[in-house]
Amino acid sequence: MKDTFYITTPIYYPSGKFHIGTAYCEVLTEAIKKYKESRGYDCFMLTGLDEHGQKIQTVAENNGLTPKEHVDKMAEAALKLWDQMDIKYDKFIRTTDDYHVKAVGKIVEKFLEQGDIYKGTYEGWYCMSDENYFTDTQLIDGKCPDCGREVKKMSEDAYFFNMKKYEGWLKDFYKENPDFLVPESRKNEIFKNFIEPGLEDLCISRNTFDWGIPMPNDPKHVLYVWLDALTNYITALGYMGNDDSLFKKYWPCDLHVVGKEIIRFHGIYWPIFLHALGLELPKKIFAHSWIVMKDGKMSKSVGNVIYPEPLIERYGLDATKYYLLRMMSFEKDSIFTPEDFVERYNYDLANDLGNLLNRTIGMMNKYVGGIIPTTNIEKTDFDDNLTNFIERHIKEVENNMDTYHVSNALSEIWSIIARTNKYIDETAPWTLFKSEEELDKQRLNSVMFNLAESLRKIAIILHPFMETTSKEILNQLSIDNSNMSWDTIYSNKIDDSTKVTEQGKPIFARLDAESEIEYIKGLMK
Ligand code: MSP
Repeated sequence: MKDTFYITTPIYYPSGKFHIGTAYCEVLTEAIKKYKESRGYDCFMLTGLDEHGQKIQTVAENNGLTPKEHVDKMAEAALKLWDQMDIKYDKFIRTTDDYHVKAVGKIVEKFLEQGDIYKGTYEGWYCMSDENYFTDTQLIDGKCPDCGREVKKMSEDAYFFNMKKYEGWLKDFYKENPDFLVPESRKNEIFKNFIEPGLEDLCISRNTFDWGIPMPNDPKHVLYVWLDALTNYITALGYMGNDDSLFKKYWPCDLHVVGKEIIRFHGIYWPIFLHALGLELPKKIFAHSWIVMKDGKMSKSVGNVIYPEPLIERYGLDATKYYLLRMMSFEKDSIFTPEDFVERYNYDLANDLGNLLNRTIGMMNKYVGGIIPTTNIEKTDFDDNLTNFIERHIKEVENNMDTYHVSNALSEIWSIIARTNKYIDETAPWTLFKSEEELDKQRLNSVMFNLAESLRKIAIILHPFMETTSKEILNQLSIDNSNMSWDTIYSNKIDDSTKVTEQGKPIFARLDAESEIEYIKGLMK
């Protein structure tokens, strides 16, 4: 039986149209899932929507809709976008789904029975946008420390989860599992800001609005959104539901991918909820950084928001996914610029990768009758060097993907592409072709074979990130693409008499930089 790998995205607030930041989170998670799949894991990817809460209720009212009408509309849009982006998720959860609502009710009942929840009064600085209270010391310049928006002093009767009870346990857990939350700098942040000063109990209910799951013991109160939201990761698998076979198979989760601003919830409250339920903890939480613009965060009021659809329509899905995954650093926020997008497209995709394929197909047809040579081969001096380089850098791709350094993994793949282009210059197949020597003919065979093999390997390792491109490379080489497993790259695999396509079409046509930069600038809203 295969090892399992359960991976999740955060469930997004359906308050507005998803921009490239949300799309990045989804694409990043999907790339990791597909990589693990190609490494032989039985994977399950969960994504979905976090549909309750005051903000959603307000947005719906502003649009003249009931909250349910609003979230239904938004769910349709989300599914359409993930379909357009060909996201290979396995389940899409909505927190308004009946099974989730029921399971959450049972979870809360269990907490009540255990004495983890008590009723009190909450007073604090409330951020409407993040649906989150803050203490005086957490505010930055009197504003929300997460999103910088205005906060309001509020007090209300509310239920609390007794976090303090689990503080000692949480500290011990982190001592024993120092790599639970990565990058380390993010873990240090929550330690410094929330764990070391002493945990505050978490307010888990509201009675000032009603768009939420009612507290089973006191239905005037609805659950404050984080308990409802976090538990999606288990209810989606059937925990406390009618059929928990997925839960039995996939829990504990292997990786929660989350944005940097929600690590407090995932790094503190989520482990405590799970521990209180007597469940195993996820194996890892990876907090990614943010896509920002030159003038700061993407915001409609600034007019600098970029949505994924127009990029996909004009430049293709793979180019868009490539750019998002390549531009983002593991740890730091990264700036989206139209210049950078066009440059990466032209240099990385059109020049480096596109030309490598195009040149190879062209030479294959011109020099060896379109058939990838597998016999009568004499190694050139450069062959071992190329093969060793590729092997070493595939290992680096693996190391980076195993630690979720996705951008670095892509840069390793591009070093393989660059090295293969260099190999063409080193071996000068056009000279070997002109030579009358039998030995040179055999060397030419070797060069052609190695080029095809390199491209085959490049196609397989690109598959988690750029599926269509990966398949197109193999199609042009007439290599079977039904098995995208990583296992196929450790040795040479090309069959005898493989006849490549006669007319390779460019997979990425070079863009006119100036006009495309202007075009992308025009997309910012
Ligand atoms: N609903 C909560 C998550 C609950 S998970 C149990 C939430 N939703 S959100 O829609 O506000 O954000 C969802 C994710 O999108 C977060 O991980 C966030 O970091 C990510 N992003 C939102 N803007 C982003 C960028 N500009 N760049 C990268 N990711 C960004 O929080």
